[in-house]
Amino acid sequence: MLIQLTYASRTAQILGPGDVKDILRSSQRNNAAAGVTGALCLTNGIFLQQLEGDREAVNKLYHRIEKDPRHNDTQILDFSEVASRRFGTWSMGLVAATAENRQLFLKYSSKADFDPYSMSSATLRAFFDEVMHNVRWLS
Ligand SMILES: Cc1cc2nc3c(=O)[nH]c(=O)nc-3n(C[C@H](O)[C@H](O)[C@H](O)COP(=O)(O)O)c2cc1C
Repeated sequence: MLIQLTYASRTAQILGPGDVKDILRSSQRNNAAAGVTGALCLTNGIFLQQLEGDREAVNKLYHRIEKDPRHNDTQILDFSEVASRRFGTWSMGLVAATAENRQLFLKYSSKADFDPYSMSSATLRAFFDEVMHNVRWLS
């Protein structure tokens, strides 16, 4: 069964400049092996990640990620069955923190700062649809 899990978290103090690169490197290696795809955004000290794949594989991965000391306050925002993958070719894409992307984050935020914790499931889905089609990626 194909599912999509979306969660937010806050970066821990210990997060250094090389950490995001390290996270991406492990993600791309492990996710490809586990058949998980997805996207990771980082803005204003908040991670927002969408993981998609087999229900068991995504559950296992989320529980591993949740224990990572590089972030805290992890909250699952949406967990749904989906008919198809959104990020089928991305084992893990990083959404670049460019000015254009910031505009996109704000378009879906009810507050002045990007606040995924307050976003509804429908808004999160609309946000990730637009991310997939319009965003600038870092690889
Ligand atoms: C915000 C965030 C997102 C992460 N996303 C993933 C991911 O999608 N896949 C993954 O394998 N590890 C991810 N990690 C890293 C894991 O917590 C863990 O460090 C890693 O999977 C360990 O695997 P390794 O020993 O092969 O590096 C993430 C960590 C953080 C802080």
